[in-house]
Amino acid sequence: MKPLIIANWKMNPASPKEAMRLFEASTDIARRFHRDVEMVICPPFVYLPLVCQKQNSRNISIFRNIEISKYQDVDISMYRVGAQDCFWENPRRGGAYTGEISATILKQNGARFVIVGHSERREYFGETNAVIAKKMAVALAAGLTPILCIGERERNDASSYLSFVKQEIEEGLALVKKTQLSRIVVAYEPMWAIGTDERPITPKQVFEMNLYIKKILYGIWGKHSSTIRIIYGGSVAPGYAAEFLTEGGMMGLLVGHQSLKPKNLEKIVYEIAAI
Ligand code: PGA
Repeated sequence: MKPLIIANWKMNPASPKEAMRLFEASTDIARRFHRDVEMVICPPFVYLPLVCQKQNSRNISIFRNIEISKYQDVDISMYRVGAQDCFWENPRRGGAYTGEISATILKQNGARFVIVGHSERREYFGETNAVIAKKMAVALAAGLTPILCIGERERNDASSYLSFVKQEIEEGLALVKKTQLSRIVVAYEPMWAIGTDERPITPKQVFEMNLYIKKILYGIWGKHSSTIRIIYGGSVAPGYAAEFLTEGGMMGLLVGHQSLKPKNLEKIVYEIAAI
C-alpha cells in the first residue's frame, strides 16, 4: 500500500483564488508522485465544490470572479479530496442543524475522506469521544474514509497519557464494524507536537506509539485490525518527514501548516516517494 499523505489546510487560505492556486500546486505534486504516494487534500468546506468540480459545476458558478473553467475536468484519480469534519448525525432527509455539514453533503460534494476528532475540535469545540464515535459511524455509512485523530495533550507520567490515548481509540472506534476496518485511518497527533517549527518528537517515540496503538487495536479486533492504517501528524516538515515512516513505522503523514507551502509540501512528498 502506498504511503498516505494528508494535507490539512485547516482554516486557510482566505480567498477562493488563493485556494485554487494552492490546490493546483498541490495536485501538481500529487500527479507527479502518484505512483509512490496517495495524496489527500483537505480544504475548508466552502472550497470543496470548487476543487471537486464537474458534478458541482452549478455550485462553482458562484465563484464568478476567478477563472475556473480549466478546473472543471480535474483528474481526481491521482489524489483525493477530504473534509476536516462532519456532523455526528446523518438523517436521510437532512435536518435542522444550523451551521453543520453532513457526511452525505460531503460525499455529494466530492469528498472521499474526512478528518474526525482533530485535537483542535476537541479543544475548541468540546468534542468528546462519544461524539467522535458517532462521526466515525456516519462517515463510514456515507462511504467516506474517516481519519480518526488521537493523541495526548502532554506527556506527563506514562501511565496517564497512555491510558488517555487508549480511551480515545477504544471510545472513538466504538461504533465501527469489523467489516469497515480497512477503510479507517488512525492519525497519531500528539497535541504538544502540533504547529511547531522544529521536530518536536523523535522517530523512536513515534515508533513506540505506533506499536502501542497497534496493540490496542489488536486488543479490540485481533488480526483483523492489521488493515487499519496508522499515520503520524504534528509539525511534519521537510528534512525529517521520511523518518516517521522508515524509523517510526507509520504508513503516512498528516501535514498541517507545511501543506500551505507547496515547495515544502513537494519536499515532504519527495522524501516519502524516495523511501
Ligand atoms: P501541523 O498540523 O503540521 O501544523 O503541526 C498538523 C495537524 O494539526 O493536523
